[in-house]
Amino acid sequence: MIVGVPRESYPGERRVALVPGVLPSLGKAGMQVMVEAGAGNSAGYPDSEYSEKGAQVTASRAEIFSNADIIAQVLCHGSNDKTGQADLPLLRNGQVLVGFLRPLGAAATLEEIARTGATAFSVELMPRTTRAQSMDALSSMATICGYKAVVMGANTLPRIFPMLTTAAGTITPGRVLIIGAGVAGLQAIATARRLGAVASAYDMRPAAKEQVQSLGGRFVELPIEAKDAQDARGYATAQGEEFYRKQRELLGDAVATNDVVITAAVVPGKKSPVLVTAEMVARMAPGSVIVDLAAERGGNCELTRGGETVVERGVTIIGEFNVASSVPYHASQMYAKNVTSFLLNLVKDGKVQINEADEIHRETLLTHDGEIVNVRVREFFGMPAAAKEA
Ligand SMILES: NC(=O)c1ccc[n+]([C@@H]2O[C@H](COP(=O)([O-])OP(=O)(O)OC[C@H]3O[C@@H](n4cnc5c(N)ncnc54)[C@H](O)[C@@H]3O)[C@@H](O)[C@H]2O)c1
Repeated sequence: MIVGVPRESYPGERRVALVPGVLPSLGKAGMQVMVEAGAGNSAGYPDSEYSEKGAQVTASRAEIFSNADIIAQVLCHGSNDKTGQADLPLLRNGQVLVGFLRPLGAAATLEEIARTGATAFSVELMPRTTRAQSMDALSSMATICGYKAVVMGANTLPRIFPMLTTAAGTITPGRVLIIGAGVAGLQAIATARRLGAVASAYDMRPAAKEQVQSLGGRFVELPIEAKDAQDARGYATAQGEEFYRKQRELLGDAVATNDVVITAAVVPGKKSPVLVTAEMVARMAPGSVIVDLAAERGGNCELTRGGETVVERGVTIIGEFNVASSVPYHASQMYAKNVTSFLLNLVKDGKVQINEADEIHRETLLTHDGEIVNVRVREFFGMPAAAKEA
């Protein structure tokens, strides 16, 4: 069984799907790894380290695709909307593909993947259960993003975070507000506190309150309640515009009194709600910073420009895309561990064995035998049940 690791092709992407450290455990389960030359370079994993762990390194991308039974990627076609399409002709019927596929993105793109005949597993669809925790790439990348958002905010702010009492006077601590206390938001709270800031956070899911407080953050309570705030999987549900309008109104003071605002409020498959308006930005002190982790999905701040950093009304708004890729060493290490755990569960006795009774297989399987087979995805796009539904 050969697992192929092509070099990531999305412009500026620095991560790699497997790092040398996971090769021994794949090897023990009968999986040999074939890596495209230079695949790990930008993440800090040179070809020589892969070779030392027994991988075959080849310069030919086509050779990887033609030899591999399983392709492990970070951004596959779907999530790689720039260059991902070029891999479609290289995929073949029955070949397993594992990676970020943006399953709630565009149905037409998913159809293109399905037509290759590949058996594609989308890491975004991993159940958020204790058993699947070691395979949860969304959590891994969100952890990296939450950390990096604080670092970017601290680096841009013309103040320091910790409170200091010095001979030159007293410095008051920086204040960081996090909107959206999911995995990224919680990591942002922990990081901001480690740097000495006073951290507070808001989330519309009541369950987030305890998690925020357990990290030493103050939970911002708003006198509004979301209708069915979270779905069965724990994800936030989309709310009506009236709810978002009230949120904006009530969040105004909290935003105005913080130095750094990190927004990470997203709803799966939906455009991110605008929670910070231009007027709210105008009330912030000059030099304040907003780091909008929802930028790729439209942004939580009205003034965010996707992929850019702008200064508006004296406030720097960072709308960088693909933040996890800017910490490629650890992002790749975590992702590789997630993919490896997944493959160890999928490959038994040297064969890919899809077990529909296993929710990890069933929920992540996106395309199979030329069709989009995932129930959640088909429902999301309003498609009728598949001939062979996962
Ligand atoms: N193994 C596990 O059990 C496990 C692992 C990871 C995550 N989870 C759970 O999965 C869920 C999703 O986590 P995630 O980090 O992927 O979330 P996410 O990235 O989908 O969303 C980020 C946060 O934004 C919040 N949000 C959305 N709209 C908002 C609004 N209008 N106002 C305020 N906040 C808003 C969400 O409630 C969420 O907390 C959570 O319930 C989390 O606890 C469970």
